Amino acid sequence: MLEIKNLHARIAESGVEIIRGLNLTVKAGEVAAIMGPNGSGKSTLSYILAGRPDYEVTEGEILYNGESILEMDPAERAAAGIFLAFQYPMEIPGVATMEFLKVAMNAQRKARGEEPLKIPELIKRVKEEAGLLSMDMAMLKRPLNVGFSGGEKKRAEILQMKLLQPNLCVLDETDSGLDIDALKIVSDGVNALRSPDRAIVVITHYQRLLEHIVPDSVHVLYKGQVIKSGDKSLAFELEENGYAGIIEEAA
Ligand SMILES: Nc1ncnc2c1ncn2[C@@H]1O[C@H](COP(=O)(O)OP(=O)(O)O)[C@@H](O)[C@H]1O
Ligand SMILES: [Mg+2]
Repeated sequence: MLEIKNLHARIAESGVEIIRGLNLTVKAGEVAAIMGPNGSGKSTLSYILAGRPDYEVTEGEILYNGESILEMDPAERAAAGIFLAFQYPMEIPGVATMEFLKVAMNAQRKARGEEPLKIPELIKRVKEEAGLLSMDMAMLKRPLNVGFSGGEKKRAEILQMKLLQPNLCVLDETDSGLDIDALKIVSDGVNALRSPDRAIVVITHYQRLLEHIVPDSVHVLYKGQVIKSGDKSLAFELEENGYAGIIEEAA
């Protein structure tokens, strides 16, 4: 579903290369974890997948269902079923969360050639999913992410994901800022999205999240490259020994 080949990318403004020959394949049905120390390029990779204009791909390919997404703008990527949950979700003042959800869901339906949802049906679906995430309905009236706590922002991301049912989900540090109960709720939400025709990429630098969302594959990112891949036991190995051993091995 997702194939990244020899990807090189830099910050557009400064020209500093952050992603330096990254290879990664994630199949449909798979939950892949990307781990790596701070500053290794994990968030940068998520921005590049989203198509943020402040990064430039200089070499390599990103294929989604066999086709390059590099020429697609962020809205086209979203319409094609790619969803990114960022480490620091954007605050959208002036747009109530419910309104945002309506626009996002209907934009996606339009891209699929479907009619917009009727308001009662929309509210019903949103209420159902928000309830599963223990989200307060009052929150849906507030502008998206504005003044939300870390945990509330993460829940709002999972809510969008569950409503939009994307084919490729990328979650960047979903565990940061979550207490144990919220972690459980958010993980359950992600686990509910597991499906044979969906790929999920979970970016985290702690093993903790992976106790709740058990990955099929684990990839260690360091200095903009995947330096080691393995199964879930690799995450436990990292928790025990840290990154130093693997970094040395790869050097
Ligand atoms: N816009 C930017 N300007 C300058 N440096 C950046 C920018 N974005 C990312 N970086 C640098 O790129 C490296 C990778 O960052 P990031 O992708 O956030 O790492 P991670 O998410 O793995 O902690 C870091 O050294 C960071 O300082
Ligand atoms: Mg990061």
